[in-house]
Amino acid sequence: MKRIAVLTSGGDAPGMNACVRAVVRYGLAAGAEVYGITRGYAGLMENDIKKLDSRDVGGIIRQGGTILMSARSKEFKTPEGQAKALDVLRGWDIDGLVVVGGDGSLHGAMCLHELGFPVVGVPASIDNDISKTEMAIGVDTALNTILDAMDKIKDTASAHQRAFIIEVMGRAHGYLALMAGIAGGAEMVVLPGQSVDKNVVIREVKSAFLRGKPHFIIVAAEGASTPEKTISQLLTEYVMESGHDARSTVLGHVQRGGSPSCYDRILGTRFGAAAVDNLVAGNIGKMVGIIDGRIVTTDLDTVLKSSPFLSGELLRLAEPLSH
Ligand code: ADP
Ligand code: F6P
Repeated sequence: MKRIAVLTSGGDAPGMNACVRAVVRYGLAAGAEVYGITRGYAGLMENDIKKLDSRDVGGIIRQGGTILMSARSKEFKTPEGQAKALDVLRGWDIDGLVVVGGDGSLHGAMCLHELGFPVVGVPASIDNDISKTEMAIGVDTALNTILDAMDKIKDTASAHQRAFIIEVMGRAHGYLALMAGIAGGAEMVVLPGQSVDKNVVIREVKSAFLRGKPHFIIVAAEGASTPEKTISQLLTEYVMESGHDARSTVLGHVQRGGSPSCYDRILGTRFGAAAVDNLVAGNIGKMVGIIDGRIVTTDLDTVLKSSPFLSGELLRLAEPLSH
């Protein structure tokens, strides 16, 4: 493998830079030239590529975002877009591509693989909605950001004896909401796919304040929103009907930013090196992941055909601990 390229795509995730840095330095150590593609698949189709050396990735391990920048591209989803991307890769004599991104980006990687181009995917998305890996790059940092916000919100919620709805990201997956709910000591967690019973919300809010709780914190996944109302709007209305004051905070993109945690720096580094190892070994059309602390490699096809799930053990923990 003489020439490796790397791109970051989709929702950026803290730790992507650690991964890019590892691909570059580990790739160079393996004797390859390494090329960085700017702005994901969009930049690839536009031939936005540059050669990277060790110094180009100096000092980036502690930076959030991605130095290669990211993008979402509708054109790349078309056969014409993918043909354009292939032409560019072949024009640069690239032998293998590392795609660092979320579920959508890995679908894109699968398309390139099916067209005969050697790819290895790296899961990076704060949503943790990718199968065959226990963690994706960025999840740990995002959770710590959410916890920091929850701790602060609890201070003001307690001062005013209010209920707060904290809406977190995650698309259709509830991992961030569930984990933040447990680790942040929420009184209620609302996950995608769960129907929210107004009477239960009212009963729980009343009961919590009667039991002497100074606040009532609900962590709600954005994916639990209905077509008519966001989950924050819905829950705020329900809580107000209990007679208690409610406020909502949509954490939004603050969850995607910030310096990566130690965990994400190490994970990004391990994934980047493993992706290079796989490319060099000709083990392509794969995604690297982590299971039981070990780096694993799974066919992209298998990854994309399976659905992510939430641990039953953690789901069972959330409710009793909220009391
Ligand atoms: P993420 O990778 O964070 O899940 P997206 O779902 O927006 O983010 O995907 C990022 C990009 O990957 C998309 O803009 C598109 O260019 C490409 N992509 C997504 N889904 C597919 C698909 N089914 N086939 C080909 N490319 C895809
Ligand atoms: O997939 C990561 C994510 O941050 C989701 O949690 C969120 O729904 C989405 O991306 C937001 O996307 P955008 O970057 O288009 O605002």
